[in-house]
Amino acid sequence: MYNFDNFRTYEQRVVRCLHLPRSDHLKKSLLLKRFLKNPTQIGSLYPSSSALCQEMISGIDIESAAHVVELGPGTGVITSKILTSMNHNSNFIAIELDTHIYKAFKKHLPLVNIYNDSAENLSSILKDEGILHVDAIVSGLPWAAFTYSLQKQILSEVIKNLSPDGYFTTFAYVQGALLPSARRFKKLLNHSFANVETSEIVWNNIPPAFVYRCQK
Ligand SMILES: C[S@@+](CC[C@H](N)C(=O)[O-])C[C@H]1O[C@@H](n2cnc3c(N)ncnc32)[C@H](O)[C@@H]1O
Repeated sequence: MYNFDNFRTYEQRVVRCLHLPRSDHLKKSLLLKRFLKNPTQIGSLYPSSSALCQEMISGIDIESAAHVVELGPGTGVITSKILTSMNHNSNFIAIELDTHIYKAFKKHLPLVNIYNDSAENLSSILKDEGILHVDAIVSGLPWAAFTYSLQKQILSEVIKNLSPDGYFTTFAYVQGALLPSARRFKKLLNHSFANVETSEIVWNNIPPAFVYRCQK
């Protein structure tokens, strides 16, 4: 039995749940099952590696962000990195479209504020929460599997709700980067943000991936 009193803050206790021994296996098999049912929405067979999750939250001032949003958290691997890095007085919201994944996430992280909704509805979710602007938006969404109109729609929600000096991060798989949909998405990023940085390739991920770090 875990003694949660050993973990100082609420976030640390929440995150500790993600490291229960069976949870890694459950996360992998759930993502795989959901991918087989709906490949274009899930976009990946495996959760992101710890190295990729770390790259996703590097260099975005997550420690000083007052409001952080995660789009497409899946089973919560990036969520755990976000929660351990952000200030525990700050506000975190996740938005996950797949109902099965949402329920599993809720079970592992019952105290995290997650909506079973589409990232397309970011504005109305933030309105309900009384939030004007978000300081960091971290996305695990499978952009290369989206239509151009869905890419544009979600990205416009991101731009609209990101604070002027806020950060948007997302990852792309190396093997998919030359697909027309991935190149269209990269063009959209370049049009939408004044600054788009590309990280080194994270080889320690299946498949290898890199991160886009963007500012308006
Ligand atoms: C590749 S998985 C990423 C999971 C996790 N963030 C990771 O890095 O391992 C993509 C997730 O985005 C979710 N998703 C896809 N379209 C979405 C949308 N329009 N709004 C919110 N979540 C969405 C999928 O259901 C899936 O859980």
